[in-house]
Amino acid sequence: MKKKEHSFTTSSASNVPKVVLISGASSGMGRATAKILADKGFIVYAGSRDSAKLESLKSENFFPLHLDITDPQSIQQSVAMILKRHNKIDVLVNNAGYGLVSTVEDVSEEEMFDQFNINVFALLRVTKEVIPVMRANRSGVIINISSFLGKIGLPLFTMYNASKYAVEGITDSLRYELKDFNIRVHSVMPGFFDTNFAKDNLVTNPKTFSPDSAYAAMVSTLAPVIVEQINKGNEPKEVGEMILKIIENEHYPARNTIGDRAEKFIPMRKELSDEDFERRVREYYSL
Ligand SMILES: NC(=O)c1ccc[n+]([C@@H]2O[C@H](COP(=O)([O-])OP(=O)(O)OC[C@H]3O[C@@H](n4cnc5c(N)ncnc54)[C@H](OP(=O)(O)O)[C@@H]3O)[C@@H](O)[C@H]2O)c1
Repeated sequence: MKKKEHSFTTSSASNVPKVVLISGASSGMGRATAKILADKGFIVYAGSRDSAKLESLKSENFFPLHLDITDPQSIQQSVAMILKRHNKIDVLVNNAGYGLVSTVEDVSEEEMFDQFNINVFALLRVTKEVIPVMRANRSGVIINISSFLGKIGLPLFTMYNASKYAVEGITDSLRYELKDFNIRVHSVMPGFFDTNFAKDNLVTNPKTFSPDSAYAAMVSTLAPVIVEQINKGNEPKEVGEMILKIIENEHYPARNTIGDRAEKFIPMRKELSDEDFERRVREYYSL
């Protein structure tokens, strides 16, 4: 009888399947990526605040993982558990994130901190725990999900912009820091994607969104357009497919644009002067 063969994606050094840890995997791009990688044979640890949402995907190589990225202990325990089982983590996808929509004038200390705590500090917390594991194996790929708003500013999105610009900076610095250990670091800058982002993960500041706000006209012009663009955005699986390519091709670019809006604006950002680019964005969003 022919022996059943697994088509697990393996580390180059051995016949052992590659192990992936991904944050914010219960929906959107995280979920799509986790599924695509598991279908390809990777061993996937899909981290979420609510791992029950991932139970239906559980399989011999897909493991829902309760992960609180605000809690260093939760991260340490998760990494230790994966290490105990596999002795390695080959790929980290820092995906979890949300968007605060607020003017700078209205934003609270707590809102500012929370935005950076999830989009920036949590990314650093998870990465910090995984680096020694990858360094010991002299191999690894870290993929940070940033945004095209990590290169382009928009009013009302200052805190989100700042957090994603930070992710771009972290990616650039880490590439130097980890190169000698054979650890690759990449960023993915999606445009607008049809995920739960607009429905569940755009957090609005009540003062900014009050009808009496000095910014009411700007809010009513911009906010509905952005929500519509997200809801009519590209399919999250496109991001998962790009992540698979980044993992498989060591020559993939450091920074990767994906999605219609990102592909429209990012090249324009590079080609035009700051002032000309700003003019185009003002026209486009009627600002
Ligand atoms: N959709 C877009 O248009 C777009 C565009 C550019 C960049 N992005 C970025 O892409 C990434 C994925 O977003 P998505 O579009 O796939 O949205 P999504 O479907 O809303 O998923 C976002 C994930 O982030 C995690 N998350 C959100 N708020 C969190 C919090 N306060 N604490 C911990 N985890 C939190 C959630 O993880 P759990 O609930 O599983 O814990 C959730 O699964 C984010 O970093 C986002 O900034 C999105």
